[in-house]
Amino acid sequence: MNFQNVQAGSLIEFSDSIQQLVNHNKVFIICDSNTENCSTILEDTVQFKKSFKITIEAGEENKNIDQVLKIWTFLNNNKANKNDWIINVGGGMICDLGGFAASTYKRGISFINIPTSLLGMVDAAIGGKTGFNLHTLKNNIGTFYPAKLVVCDAVFLKTLPEDELESGFAEVIKHALISDYNFWTQIKNQSFEDYNFRDIINFSINHKLNIVEKDPKENGSRKKLNFGHTIGHALESHFLSLNKTIFHGFAVAQGMAIEAYISYKLNYISKEKYTEIKEFIFSIYQPIAINKIEIETLVGFMSNDKKNENTKINFTLLDDIGSAVYDKYISAEGIVNLMHDFYSYD
Ligand code: GLY
Repeated sequence: MNFQNVQAGSLIEFSDSIQQLVNHNKVFIICDSNTENCSTILEDTVQFKKSFKITIEAGEENKNIDQVLKIWTFLNNNKANKNDWIINVGGGMICDLGGFAASTYKRGISFINIPTSLLGMVDAAIGGKTGFNLHTLKNNIGTFYPAKLVVCDAVFLKTLPEDELESGFAEVIKHALISDYNFWTQIKNQSFEDYNFRDIINFSINHKLNIVEKDPKENGSRKKLNFGHTIGHALESHFLSLNKTIFHGFAVAQGMAIEAYISYKLNYISKEKYTEIKEFIFSIYQPIAINKIEIETLVGFMSNDKKNENTKINFTLLDDIGSAVYDKYISAEGIVNLMHDFYSYD
């Protein structure tokens, strides 16, 4: 798999590359109700010979098999063939869903990701993971199938709502925590308004490519990227099951705070380091209150996590700020106890 072709820069700058890739073939643009205007910018920037567009209803609750079926049918009705292209224009949800449809339609057609959210740019659009939620189980069905080109144009962030920006920023914090103490210090000592998002996107792209190139199919070290996600995904599943929405990054931020606590309780990091992490996370994100019954529900979702082996739950933990360890298995009962401790801690 080739993950090299991920570029931060303006769409105009990469319009020739896009044009050359799709050549004379048909282009199928997939966007959602929030990113239709971004897809129009794409259509105004690149002169496609023949293009078709489908708009999916925005929202994590729509990252499901019904929307995949809608995309497959749209491709089929418009006689898409193996040489045609999909271009995903949207956040993480569209990149995941469109990438999955591309990877399975006629056993795989090529696609380009044009992420329009910070989350898409720093994480979801890069690295070849595609998929959708099986009922409430996050990303339970999926493939590894990288985009041929990813273009991250920071101009799209200008119109992004602040909570969407904060959601994507959780993945940036994760990148710092699992691999770069200097970057952690840098982001921690600046306020949100002062961040240079172009630099942040570049850092995250390089960081993620570096990890993914060494372990594209997540047999080992790529699991570091799952820090905060065992609990984060369980929270998202819980909210989905209640028909409530939660931003991915907000769930991951809470997940990182709790998983940093677990790292401390299992003696991987000091109490001081855990406190530093927790304080920074909760200076940006509101803590999510979880009662005792909900802890049982969350651990139930964790037990179904695709990363598990046998009956234990698989965690990525921190062994320092800027360093992570993976495949740390903890029993369901152990997690319930640790989460009880976390919520009554301090
Ligand atoms: N978002 C985690 C990964 O791409 O592996």
